[in-house]
Amino acid sequence: MVQPLKILFCAAEVSPLAKVGGLADVVGSLPKALAKLGHDVRITMPHYSLIDEKTHPTTTVGRTFTIATKKQPEQVTIQSTALNGNLPVYLINNKTYFARPAVYGEADDLERFIFFSNAAIALPQKIGWQPDVIHCHDWHTAVTVLNAHRLKTPSATVFTVHNLAYQGAFDDSFLASSGLQEDFESSKKLFPSLSLNMMALGILHSDMITTVSQNYAQEILTPEYGAGMESLLSFRKDQLQGIVNGIDYSEFDPATDPLIAANYDSSRIWRKAVNKLALQKRAGLPQDEHIPLIGMVTRLDEQKGFDILEKAMDSILKDTNAQLVVLGKGREIYHQLMQKVAGQYPDRVAVIIAFDNPLAHLIYAGADYFLMPSRFEPCGLGQMIAMRYGTIPIVRRTGGLDETVPDLSPDLKLGRGFVFESYDGDALVLAIKRAVAAFPRKEAWQQVLLRIMQTEFSWEASAKKYEAVYERAINHHKNEVKARAD
Ligand code: GLC
Repeated sequence: MVQPLKILFCAAEVSPLAKVGGLADVVGSLPKALAKLGHDVRITMPHYSLIDEKTHPTTTVGRTFTIATKKQPEQVTIQSTALNGNLPVYLINNKTYFARPAVYGEADDLERFIFFSNAAIALPQKIGWQPDVIHCHDWHTAVTVLNAHRLKTPSATVFTVHNLAYQGAFDDSFLASSGLQEDFESSKKLFPSLSLNMMALGILHSDMITTVSQNYAQEILTPEYGAGMESLLSFRKDQLQGIVNGIDYSEFDPATDPLIAANYDSSRIWRKAVNKLALQKRAGLPQDEHIPLIGMVTRLDEQKGFDILEKAMDSILKDTNAQLVVLGKGREIYHQLMQKVAGQYPDRVAVIIAFDNPLAHLIYAGADYFLMPSRFEPCGLGQMIAMRYGTIPIVRRTGGLDETVPDLSPDLKLGRGFVFESYDGDALVLAIKRAVAAFPRKEAWQQVLLRIMQTEFSWEASAKKYEAVYERAINHHKNEVKARAD
């Protein structure tokens, strides 16, 4: 085993304290797997007022201190709570920036997350605990990486890209007030077209960069998927590694899940049908276990394939008898579109525009298929959760979906899901028709369910890969320090 390390996770969202998307799930579960391997893992995040004090009681750690901002010095108090009972989470408390109900989407997000990043780098000294590695996630924490580099802290840094669609790109008019002018001026020598972009800082200054599947790590070196970051990523590609996410096996286990209608495992798989009937009832659809049921738990936007789903919808409704349940929130145009379809076909389509964790679990357990027609997908967690619940994915061949869902062979003896290649409505319809046609093949179907339920998607293997990344980051950092001293 690797020497026990001290690792500080920095992120804008951590499940279950504050969750917007998959980032929160990863930061809420990977630390637990690393702690199991013997490491001292702690987490820091902003103290948003939406964090429920009753379920997550906090205590104050150390003294209040101040962080300079462009406007005035701002006070920081560190409040500590715990994940899983014993994993410390340090909440960065400041009224000006975080006493609001929203995680993101505020007009001053740039300022808020620069402030958080500055507080995060001050944290180790304030609590008397110096990490070997600071593991930062997505653009909100990129300035923590930059600070570690600038201030020559003893900690190595790892920067994880969860989704290049969200880069923290801002207008250059904010440069002066961001305090990052010099850093951008010097980076522009190498990349003349670079503008104020937080993700770029994380990519350029971290000891190691990771992303959330091996496939996506390759894809983002190309203009198609690189979203303008491909040249920076290619420049640092020796330090870039893809590691597929895991899912939290304690939260997502059909045998023990308290949020579903009937618990089951591969030896009592027939009980899955109880969940299907409960889901149909909850969604207001006709209750019939012989009708194929497709579930989606998703953000409603282009990344997740709603533009091609829109094109495919007519044919799905006419040419198959499948029911569709969609849960999630996203862009208003897709809320309206899906609600309109549900209004026209109330026996076929149910749309619930909400974040609803219990219903999400019931969809994972009760649906026959889990649909993810993503345009791009860095990793994707839904397809892995679905498989653990014996729900067969229908996915587009991209990123982490491609890595975790090999296509089913015609006899259904190999593979895990129904996969389509080209990003268009026709290809999606064909995959859904193929999936629905396989539904009556009871025996072969059962074998697929058993196979996907038994596939390993826990964090164990990936946590070991992160250990190796941390070792590499520490060595890279040592060499840099040495090179600077020479
Ligand atoms: C982002 C990506 C998703 C990934 C998640 C966690 O939400 O879009 O693919 O699974 O981050 O890494």
